[in-house]
Amino acid sequence: MDIASFRIIHISDLHIASKANIVSRFFGSNGDPDVKAYKDFLQTSHDKDATESLAGFLTLQCRNESVDLVLVSGDVAAAGLHQHLEMAQSFLIDPDELGREERSDMPYCGVPKDHLMFMPGNHDRFQPQHFTTRTMAEAIEPDGILFDDVFAGQWISPDDQVGQIIVGRSHRNIVAKKITNKSGIGPDLYVISADFCLTSIDEAEGIGERLPFAYAGQGLAHKEVIADLVKLTKEIQSKEYPNIVIWVSHFPPFLEKELDADKRNLRLIGAKYLREAAEKNGIGIILSGHLHADKTLSFGVTTQIWCTGATTCMDFILPRALHGIEFTVREGMVEAKRYTYEYKRIPGEGRTFVRCDAIEPDSHTWELVHHKPSV
Ligand SMILES: [Fe+2]
Repeated sequence: MDIASFRIIHISDLHIASKANIVSRFFGSNGDPDVKAYKDFLQTSHDKDATESLAGFLTLQCRNESVDLVLVSGDVAAAGLHQHLEMAQSFLIDPDELGREERSDMPYCGVPKDHLMFMPGNHDRFQPQHFTTRTMAEAIEPDGILFDDVFAGQWISPDDQVGQIIVGRSHRNIVAKKITNKSGIGPDLYVISADFCLTSIDEAEGIGERLPFAYAGQGLAHKEVIADLVKLTKEIQSKEYPNIVIWVSHFPPFLEKELDADKRNLRLIGAKYLREAAEKNGIGIILSGHLHADKTLSFGVTTQIWCTGATTCMDFILPRALHGIEFTVREGMVEAKRYTYEYKRIPGEGRTFVRCDAIEPDSHTWELVHHKPSV
C-alpha cells in the first residue's frame, strides 16, 4: 500500500511596500477626484505587525521540519516598483544570499530556499516607470517586468521544471516545484504555478464598469500559457510512477457570476478554459489568492479552487489569513485537508497567526493520474 504525506503552507497577497501600514501612499495624487475610489479599491501596503508575526510563524514551522513547502501565490509587493520589490525580497530571501544585513524594517521570513515557492501577481507587474506621472491609471498599467529582474535566480531554481511562453513582450513562466516523498519511493508532489497577469490594458474587460481602470485587478488565462501548463503537467504525469500535481494561479478561476458584485473587476478572463484544462488533466486543486477572502469552489468532478485570504496586506474588514494544507496518498487516491490560520490577538501573547478551529477544515479527494511513460 502506498502511503505518502506532504504539508504545505499557502500564503498570498503580502503587498509589501517601501513603507508599512499606509493604505494609499503610492496612489496619493493630490486633488484627484477619484482618490477615494482608488483607496477603497486598492489597499496597497503591508501590515507591519502581521508581517513580523508571519516571519516568526514561518521560521518556527520550518525549524520544526513540519513543512515541505511555503507557497506565496502572488502579489508579494504592492507594485512593481524597485523599492517595493526589494522590500519583498528582504522578506523572502535569506540576507546571507542577498549579501546584505537583515533590515530592521523588514524581517526575513526564515524559509530556506528549497522550501520556498513564489510567483508574481497583478500588483507585482504594475508598471513602475509611469509612477512619476502620479496618475493612478498609468501607474497601474500591467505588464511590468521588474519582478523578473529583481528576483532573477531566486524565483526559479535550477532543480525546477520550467515552461516559458512569451506573450506580448512578457515572459510568462510556468514553474513546477517537486517535493520529494520522504520515503524515497513515489508519489512525489508537484506544485505548478502559471502567470496569468494581463500583458496589456487592451486585454481587460468592462473598463468603466465600476472603476475607470478595471484592468488593475484582472488576469487573462492566455491560451498559450494554459497549453504550456498542460504540457508540463503531462510530462510529470508520465514519469515512472504516479505523482500528485496541483496548480497555482494568482487569480482564482471563478466565473464572473460566481464573484461578489464588488469583486467582478478581479476576474480571470477566460477562467473557463483553465477550469476545463484542470478537470481534463485530473488536477485536484487550483490554489489562488487575489480576492483577499477565504473561498472554496467546487465546479466539476475533480477540481476545486482553494483561495486563501490576504496574509499581510492591510485590510480594514477581512482578517489576515493563511492556509496549512496536508496531502495524504493512499492506494492511488489523494486526500487534501486545508486548515485556516488567522492573525488574532491571543491573551498573554499579543497578535499572532493561529489555527482557527472554529472554521471546519475543507477536504477533497481525487484520483492520481498516470500516463504510460514514453520509451
Ligand atoms: Fe492580486
